[in-house]
Amino acid sequence: MVGLIQKVLLDLIHEKAGPEAVDEVKRRANVPDDRVFRIGEVYSDDEWQRLFAVSLDVLDLSQDQAYEAYAQAFCADARQRFPKWFDMAKNSRMFLEYQTTIHNTFASGVVDASQRQAVNDKFLIDKIDERHIVTHYRSPNKLCGLYKALARCMAGHYGDEILIDERQCLDRGDRECEIHVTWKRFKGE
Ligand code: HEM
Repeated sequence: MVGLIQKVLLDLIHEKAGPEAVDEVKRRANVPDDRVFRIGEVYSDDEWQRLFAVSLDVLDLSQDQAYEAYAQAFCADARQRFPKWFDMAKNSRMFLEYQTTIHNTFASGVVDASQRQAVNDKFLIDKIDERHIVTHYRSPNKLCGLYKALARCMAGHYGDEILIDERQCLDRGDRECEIHVTWKRFKGE
């Protein structure tokens, strides 16, 4: 998992519960206490899964509450850190379409070929039409709940209204998550 994701999580914990909570999460997840996550470097998926699981406990949040809180924090961070992507996408439909390109841009900076491929392989998007995309997602991290929270965040940012229907899910034993996003209304319609 590319370190931007862990960095945003630890920043969120810091903001909500202070530096001691960050230390506790690192300790319980077996992450060295002096580790600084770098936004373009790859760290292990197992470690991310431990960090996220412990974070739920320390922040006393359900998984869904944590996805929502994380998605809000991630969107705010991304708007500041990567304003060009927001300028390029004129609505949330375009942003969700760019999402794999954004991820693959991160992957292109990863030196190890198998780690690079692992990032590229997680998402595949079918662009059905202007109001409907289908995202195919496969990952050991099983973060479709985060995908949906981030999609809602992007829709909120642009003032669009979406419907999300997850027709297959890794958590239900399917081979992938198949997430349909339909735009009911774009801002200004
Ligand atoms: C500027 C916007 C964005 C940036 C910079 C960004 C960046 C990243 C990076 C670097 C990762 C780690 C990739 C990896 O190690 O596999 C990631 C993971 C993820 N992103 Fe994004 N992303 C953005 C927008 C989005 C959006 C809009 C969505 C969903 C609608 C999304 C969904 C996810 C999910 C679900 C993961 C976890 C993948 C996994 O490990 O299973 N991202 N993102």
